[in-house]
Amino acid sequence: MLIRRAPIFRSSEITDERLYLNRRAFIAGAAALGGALALGAPHDAGAEAPLAELKAARNPKFAQPDPPTRYEAATTYNNFYEFGVNKEDPARMAGSLKPRPWAVQVEGHVGKPRTFDIDELIKLAPLEERVYALRCVEAWSMVIPWIGFPLAALLKRVEPTGQAKFVEFTTLLDPEQFPAQKKGLFSFSSLEWPYVEGLRLDEAMHPLTLLTVGMYGKVLPNQNGAPVRVVVPWKYGFKSAKSIVRIRLVSEQPKTAWEKAAPQEYGFYSNVNPAVSHPRWSQATERRITEGRISEFRRRDTLPFNGYADQVASLYSGMDLKKYY
Ligand code: MTE
Repeated sequence: MLIRRAPIFRSSEITDERLYLNRRAFIAGAAALGGALALGAPHDAGAEAPLAELKAARNPKFAQPDPPTRYEAATTYNNFYEFGVNKEDPARMAGSLKPRPWAVQVEGHVGKPRTFDIDELIKLAPLEERVYALRCVEAWSMVIPWIGFPLAALLKRVEPTGQAKFVEFTTLLDPEQFPAQKKGLFSFSSLEWPYVEGLRLDEAMHPLTLLTVGMYGKVLPNQNGAPVRVVVPWKYGFKSAKSIVRIRLVSEQPKTAWEKAAPQEYGFYSNVNPAVSHPRWSQATERRITEGRISEFRRRDTLPFNGYADQVASLYSGMDLKKYY
């Protein structure tokens, strides 16, 4: 992604990732041999406490030909800028986030605005497991068994009015829980807090858009957006806001955190599109981080809408997706 004074994402980062995962493998190997290696140990052990199980039946309609990404890779190599700008920061730093108690305000142009306690929210609709691929704007992707229910189930509950055209998602603002929100600490980050993302109402109501509370049979780890996030599988990963405290139905297109930071790089729609390059790198291919040896992560062609074109392309009929990137 980006920063104003120096790039967060460097073109070398894809090889950095390989080195990084190799280093993790090295650490794991050393630990298995009984080595007491402190290098790379989590900053805050809280982030690695055992997570509660969350069982949900797998919905066979949402499967992937590739095997899932290893849990370790999905939870230790990711983006959550509230914890820092490096891929290993979320797992190291996320112990400060407290996912309970937690409330989500659902408001704006709705007939029945409501604040849901997270434990109440989780029970609003039957949970299901869906294996989605999530394509990061940085040209890598992961295959993850998410647990949640369609966001539409929540939105219908609050009864959007005719004025509701967009949905805005806001992440928690709390510098005590999110160290990078402390002024000056990560002054090189150009993101404005809180992290804000948005969808058009029809995108938010689409059955693929998942209000997500778990992954891999467990509640969400802090670094993956506990206790609740969205997953929008046909869009670049940054559209899937984590640790959400407010969902607001609005009439105007929300100004998102990444659009504010660099509108020429991160558009509102951000549908995965191999034909539209990021200004600093191509989106034509990606490395899919699945299972097995790092050296086996081959480059593959990126698919329009991340492979979900049959389900979602009609949402954009008549739109120039080069203009509305
Ligand atoms: N949400 C918040 N609040 N802060 C972030 O930095 N990063 C985004 C998205 N949601 C981010 C966020 C990006 S860039 C990606 S790729 C996905 O989360 C990563 O989700 P994952 O870590 O579960 O793979």
